Amino acid sequence: MNEQIPILKVQHLQKYYPIQKGLMRKTVGHVKAVDDVSFTLNRGETLGVVGESGCGKTTLGRCIPRLVEPTDGAVQFYGKSRDLVVDAKRPARNTLIELRRHIQMIFQDPMASLDPRMTVFEIVGEPLLYNSGLNRGERRDMVARLLERTGIRSDYMDRYPHQFSGGQRQRMGIARALMLDPEILICDEAVSALDVSVQAQIIKMFKNLQKELSLSYLFIAHDLSVVEHVSHRVIVMYLGRIVESAVTREIFEHPQHPYTESLLFSIPSADPSLKGKKRRILQGDVPNPAAPPTGCYFHTRCPYAQAVCSREYPALKEISPGHLSACHFTGSLSLKGYTALVEERRNGAVYA
Ligand SMILES: Nc1ncnc2c1ncn2[C@@H]1O[C@H](COP(=O)(O)OP(=O)(O)OP(=O)(O)O)[C@@H](O)[C@H]1O
Ligand SMILES: [Mg+2]
Repeated sequence: MNEQIPILKVQHLQKYYPIQKGLMRKTVGHVKAVDDVSFTLNRGETLGVVGESGCGKTTLGRCIPRLVEPTDGAVQFYGKSRDLVVDAKRPARNTLIELRRHIQMIFQDPMASLDPRMTVFEIVGEPLLYNSGLNRGERRDMVARLLERTGIRSDYMDRYPHQFSGGQRQRMGIARALMLDPEILICDEAVSALDVSVQAQIIKMFKNLQKELSLSYLFIAHDLSVVEHVSHRVIVMYLGRIVESAVTREIFEHPQHPYTESLLFSIPSADPSLKGKKRRILQGDVPNPAAPPTGCYFHTRCPYAQAVCSREYPALKEISPGHLSACHFTGSLSLKGYTALVEERRNGAVYA
């Protein structure tokens, strides 16, 4: 991927969930699930989003097509046919409807929330009911075509989702998401519930579809090895904020934020020579997002923290072209990448 043409710009996105107490439901605070997040997704690109549970990945993904109402911020979509701008404060209904055609979401188990009495045809073809003006026969043809494209035999169309495996159901979910010819897919833990071999097949399919249909993906996952495999660039989130972003290789081999290094330390390795060699697991829990620590949110768990880190939140700065990090000591720490960490473990380093 050489050309970098933006397809989506997310600007200063915020989602604060009120915390309410008592009979009067008085607001006593806010969970800042997404707190001033800005980034660009390029056409044909896969942008990975990683971070521990509760750091705001799902909220971020859902705020983009406004399945969750953001508190503030703007989303700009530069489509093939036209540009759409959605301001969190002044969303125009027609713009939103159009945006949701172009940006589709794929969840962990897309069939789970649907009526089990619906057939595969009814589920996968549902988006066509309101948007296409096609008759039933034409809709069946479309569904057949997309099922075949995602590796499901079209004569399974009149069966029920529970008759299929998790991997097959995910393929049907992808067929459904593709029904209105979207330009962006937001995949939220789309392969997390699947066996490793099935994961590999679905990931391969995502990659093929990307090429054939020139799709762009926001690929949310807590599994870093999956993200490394699929993403061109990666965003690392901690407590609702971006702490680092760069091209995938930079993130994995030259991380610039201690939190990213800690995440790399935690990746399990399939290498048998590392069997029995301890990996360092992130110490402590993610702090309460309703009452984040003062200063840098990560300082309470950071092995490199100094006094300034508990006082001031570090700005997200560009430290080399396209590589952003929010750490007071970015550049002066010699953080280790994944290869160096594996080598260290192989040589017998023992971690606390
Ligand atoms: N509807 C809601 N009401 C109140 N708080 C919420 C709501 N949804 C999410 N949160 C809070 O927002 C924060 C971010 O949650 P989110 O689900 O976006 O995280 P995540 O990174 O997707 O986590 P996971 O890896 O577990 O999926 C969490 O503290 C969560 O408790
Ligand atoms: Mg989530």
